[in-house]
Amino acid sequence: MARAVILASGSGSNFQALAEAIEGTKHSLTALICDRKGAGCFERAEKLNISARYINYAEKKREAVEQELLDIVNSTGCDIIFLAGFMRLITPFFLDNFAGPVINIHPSLLPKYPGTHGIEESYGSGDLELGITIHKVDYGMDTGPVICQRSFIRSGRESLEEIEVKIHELEHLWYPKTAIELLDKSEINSEVKQ
Ligand code: GAR
Repeated sequence: MARAVILASGSGSNFQALAEAIEGTKHSLTALICDRKGAGCFERAEKLNISARYINYAEKKREAVEQELLDIVNSTGCDIIFLAGFMRLITPFFLDNFAGPVINIHPSLLPKYPGTHGIEESYGSGDLELGITIHKVDYGMDTGPVICQRSFIRSGRESLEEIEVKIHELEHLWYPKTAIELLDKSEINSEVKQ
């Protein structure tokens, strides 16, 4: 059994997709941590009966907040962290001090359109092939090694809302599948370390 923590900032549809998938496995999702008070992910966590914590980035220096984050994550025995719409940069300090991998999902075919407007920028580009990327987090912004990319070809007649729906459908299908595979691997790795 491997343990995961999810960090989110928004509505939490990816958090929910991950939580529901992990529920049906031997792995465990120990907590949701969110940096935005009142974000939709809190309501989803309550319905799913998953412990949720707010982390306040506003009042302390970044390193102190990340130390707090590390303390929470490590206190749950977490093996792997999934970012699900977490709109903060994870710094080298955190990555160097967390033993497991940190995984992110991004709504574009990276390295195209990194940052906070992946869907809008993909939509506004002339690209016909659009999609999603699941990657390991490294020191850069949306730059880490790619684990999975999935795409579709648009006709060019879709609205932004229709493209958003297609992107979220891909995310909700592939993030859980990839996450379970990573949890399986993470379990094997921790057995090897013991
Ligand atoms: C998702 O589309 C995710 O890919 C994106 O935020 C959205 C969160 O939606 N993440 C990024 O843009 C990261 N750079 P959700 O709160 O409904 O899961």
